[in-house]
Amino acid sequence: RGILGEVWDDEMSSSMLGNRLKKVVQNYQAMNKYGVKVSGPGGVSSRPKLSGPKLLCQMKIQVDVSTLTSDFQPFSSLPWASQLPSKQLTSNLGPYKSCAVVTSAGSMRSSGLGKEIDSHDAVLRFNAAPTSGYENDVGSKTTIRLVNSQVMASEAHRFLSSSLYSSGTLVAWDPAPFSADLTQWFNRTDYPIFTQYQRYRMLHPMQPFYILHPRFEWQVWQRIQDNMAEPIQKNPPSSGLLGTVMMMSLCEVVHVYEFLPSRRKTELCHYYQRFFDAACTLGAYHPLLYEKNLVKRMNQGPERDIYTHGRITLPGFNTLNC
Ligand code: C5P
Repeated sequence: RGILGEVWDDEMSSSMLGNRLKKVVQNYQAMNKYGVKVSGPGGVSSRPKLSGPKLLCQMKIQVDVSTLTSDFQPFSSLPWASQLPSKQLTSNLGPYKSCAVVTSAGSMRSSGLGKEIDSHDAVLRFNAAPTSGYENDVGSKTTIRLVNSQVMASEAHRFLSSSLYSSGTLVAWDPAPFSADLTQWFNRTDYPIFTQYQRYRMLHPMQPFYILHPRFEWQVWQRIQDNMAEPIQKNPPSSGLLGTVMMMSLCEVVHVYEFLPSRRKTELCHYYQRFFDAACTLGAYHPLLYEKNLVKRMNQGPERDIYTHGRITLPGFNTLNC
C-alpha cells in the first residue's frame, strides 16, 4: 500500500473477512427470507466491470426513488390514507445544490467534520444518530432523517416521543418481500411500520413524513448484485446506501462521510455508542461490503479525500447526461 495508507478496495470479497464474519455472511447469502429471485446472466464471473459513469447511469435509469402517496392502493381505501403525503418526496423536497450524507460509523468520532457537514444545503442522517453532544464531529443540521422500521418499533429508541426525530423531514423504510405488491407487503411487513407511522403522524402532524416504496430498495439491491462477481446477501441494502441514492435524486452534488472508512477506521460500531463489532462496517445482514465496492467505483472525488475525511463525492442524477 502507498503513502495514503489503506482505503477501501473496490473488489472486496467475503473471502477477505475474518472467519467469524465470513460464516455470518455466508449464512445470510444462503438464507432467502424475502424470496429474492436472481435474474439475468447467471454466470457471476463473466460480468464486465463497468466504469463509474456507466454505473451512475444504471443507477439513474434503473432505480426509481419513489415514496408512498395517499392515492396508492391499498392505502387509498384505508381510513388513514390522508396521513400519507399527497405528493412524492422528490417533488416536495429540493433540488439542493450540495448535500451531506452522514453515516453513523464509529470513525465519525474525532473527525472534526461538523462545520464542513453543516455547510451543505441539506444534511441526511440515519436512524437514532444524535447531533447533540457530537456537533464538532457530525454537525448540527438535520434536513432529512432516514429511519428503518426496526428503530420505529423498538421501545428503546422512543421513536414516538424522543426529540431526536423532530427536526427536518422523516423518511421511513421496511424490508419488503422481493416481488410483493404493496398489499402483500402491507400484510407482511418486517416490523410494524404502518402502525408506528400512523401513531407518529397523530402526535406530530406538522412534520413531513414519507415512506419509501419497497420497490426502491430491491432496485438498488439489483444494481449491487448485477455488478458484483459473487452472490451478495439476499437482504435489502443498508440505510446508508438507500439514503445516498435518495439524496442523488435531490441534490446536484452529494458528499458521503465515513461510508468508506477514513484513516480513523475503527471497530467502534456507531459514533454515539460504546459497542464494537466489525460487522457494522463490513456488513452481516446487509450486503454492505458490496454496497461499498459499488460506491467506491462511482466515487468522483480523489482517493485522498477518503483517507483524510472519509469523504466520497457523487453527482446528482440531474447533472448526468445518460
Ligand atoms: O447502523 P445504522 O444503519 O443506523 O447506520 C447508518 C448507516 O451508516 C448504515 O446503514 C451504514 O450504511 C453506515 N455505517 C457504516 N459503518 C458503520 C456504521 C454505519 O458504514 N460502522
